[in-house]
Amino acid sequence: MKILAFFGGARKHRNTMSMLNYLLDNLEGEKEIINCYDLSVSPCIDSRYCYKHRACIIKDGMTEIYKKIDEADIIIFASPIYFFGVPGPMKVMIDRFQMYWAGIKRGDKPENYAKLGAYLMSGGGPSFKTQFTGGGLELSEALKVTNTKKVGQVLMDDADIVKDLDQRPEIKEKIDELALLLSVRK
Ligand SMILES: Cc1cc2nc3c(=O)[nH]c(=O)nc-3n(C[C@H](O)[C@H](O)[C@H](O)COP(=O)(O)O)c2cc1C
Repeated sequence: MKILAFFGGARKHRNTMSMLNYLLDNLEGEKEIINCYDLSVSPCIDSRYCYKHRACIIKDGMTEIYKKIDEADIIIFASPIYFFGVPGPMKVMIDRFQMYWAGIKRGDKPENYAKLGAYLMSGGGPSFKTQFTGGGLELSEALKVTNTKKVGQVLMDDADIVKDLDQRPEIKEKIDELALLLSVRK
């Protein structure tokens, strides 16, 4: 079981990474975390090359990411909310998922989901209705286009007030439930 996790936060050891580590500790398999801030990935230029080829016209760090996604059984996104969306480096990478979306144009879009996936997000403010809506839509679509069935998500509000995952048993419980859903064989 290959588990590929994309980490989107600027701070490497805080709320979002605590959630991700807690989830990964609950999963068995070959695990890899990709920190989007460490990637050499340029923004999509909408060349539409991928409408005809299952590849991107830009040859950069994304070539390796496509390979890792194609080989993964489970995909996880873990990201803080920055201005209602995911931080820039993760957004730049997700825009390059257009190569997957363009399967519709090429006619090679897979019919059934081949992977399971989920996302984790943290937001600094106290909970409000649309706090995670923007980022949630982005990450749901990122899972969908990579042929990944979303089994759930865990959202940590108030992260700037309550600083430690150990003080959030309700979040841990939700991550435990998510781990069980991800462990169910496809
Ligand atoms: C540039 C920036 C924008 C942010 N925008 C939001 C926001 O729109 N909503 C929110 O709830 N928190 C916002 N925050 C707070 C972060 O989501 C929060 O601190 C989060 O827990 C950071 O994750 P980390 O602890 O893993 O670093 C923002 C933080 C930064 C740095």
